[in-house]
Amino acid sequence: MEFFIDTGDLNEIKTAYSWGFVDGVTTNPSLVAKTGKNQKELIKEISQIVDGPISAEVIALDAKGMIAEGEDLATIHKNVVIKLPMTKDGMIACKHFSGKGIKTNVTLVFSANQALLAAKNGATYVSPFVGRLDDVGQTGMDLIGEIRQIFNNYGFETKILAASLRHSQHIKECAMVGADTATIPFKVIEGLFNHPLTKSGLDQFMADHAKSQK
Ligand code: E4P
Repeated sequence: MEFFIDTGDLNEIKTAYSWGFVDGVTTNPSLVAKTGKNQKELIKEISQIVDGPISAEVIALDAKGMIAEGEDLATIHKNVVIKLPMTKDGMIACKHFSGKGIKTNVTLVFSANQALLAAKNGATYVSPFVGRLDDVGQTGMDLIGEIRQIFNNYGFETKILAASLRHSQHIKECAMVGADTATIPFKVIEGLFNHPLTKSGLDQFMADHAKSQK
């Protein structure tokens, strides 16, 4: 299972990457806007920190514009993955990039049928948004399971990149249901380390060690 960090914050990326289990990065226009940086500059800086897939999203809404923007983003670094919205134009651009061997991540996926279209057009990743479905009263994780079953039925190689993950329970459920990749905010990654018994156990070991040294 791949772990990506879902942020544009370079300090968060550096810290999480130093822990050893982070494989890549996803960004989106909202996350880039938070940094106040130009997207190309930011993606270049990220590519100097992380040796793994880095998703950079196009802003254009028409296929021609998406293709031009994506081809430009792809020149930044070999690890750049072009993030395209799940729209008709996004699918045209996805097919174009698949044909050229450029990696893609189809984003804003909220149904199994949308994921199926992206897989048929050769997307490298498809990003179902779990938390945003939870927000509107659906069980977002069910979508990950549906897509897993469909991709297994037909042997699609498109990776399921579970997105919009909000808490540690989401990460465990993604792993249990078979998501290939989870993109996770920094705070949630940090929370994965914690268990109260790990802390109290370590405190006890250290206290006993200190006593034995007296
Ligand atoms: C995925 O690539 C998106 O950047 C992200 O996971 C969206 O998460 P949000 O719903 O918390 O904004």
